[in-house]
Amino acid sequence: MRKHIVAGNWKMNTTVAEGVELAKAVVAASAEVPADVKLIIAPPFTHLYPVAEVVKGTRVGLSAQNCADHVKGAYTGEVAVNMISGLGAEYVILGHSERREYYGETDATLVEKVKLALAEGLSPIFCIGEKKEEREAGRHFEVVTEQVKNVLFELSAEEMAKIVVAYEPVWAIGTGLTATAEQAQEIHAEIRKVLAEKFGELAEEISILYGGSCKPSNAKELFACPDIDGGLIGGAALKAEDFIGIAVSF
Ligand code: 13P
Repeated sequence: MRKHIVAGNWKMNTTVAEGVELAKAVVAASAEVPADVKLIIAPPFTHLYPVAEVVKGTRVGLSAQNCADHVKGAYTGEVAVNMISGLGAEYVILGHSERREYYGETDATLVEKVKLALAEGLSPIFCIGEKKEEREAGRHFEVVTEQVKNVLFELSAEEMAKIVVAYEPVWAIGTGLTATAEQAQEIHAEIRKVLAEKFGELAEEISILYGGSCKPSNAKELFACPDIDGGLIGGAALKAEDFIGIAVSF
């Protein structure tokens, strides 16, 4: 059976002290969540060290929000995969639409990052999703198919088995607009179909998360869909009560 995952992407929010408090609150409330749901939090880089201490030995996993596309060296301001794994993080979010849009990340860079993360033993949470104008033009299937093929088709089956996919329609991120359960299910099924073209039955084992204005009030309907295996949560992950409120929706 596919893993159910609820991951919180804190983006560029909270001070270190606030982040530690938030992590503690998530850990404290995590007992309410069914045991088969994996909880993950992704604080900013600066918070990873103290937050790792908070989640150590608990059921809450730790993720970074990005990593460098080089192993080490003269890349001022970048953070390497072994610096992330060295803190006890097991996941790294890659290809988020904000990184693609504001920091010019291309599919070619993402192939490098995904491969480096996997080689370091990290599981990438690989994000894909169409923009508003692409959906309006009816190109959403085409856009996500291309994102999957350009990056994930470069992996071996063994590597692919460690990937978590997150479908995040850009028009739903931070806008309060959520894809309907029907829209989300339809595209998740399509993503799985595309994965099956290359990876066969393994596609059935890959967790595909939905992201974009997911909150306690809409999570149940989304998570009830057969191809939606959890959520990548932004704004609602900044309040432990809302984050856990989403995770109990399974
Ligand atoms: P929101 O939940 O704030 O819409 O953000 C979703 C997201 O981008 C998670 O990575």
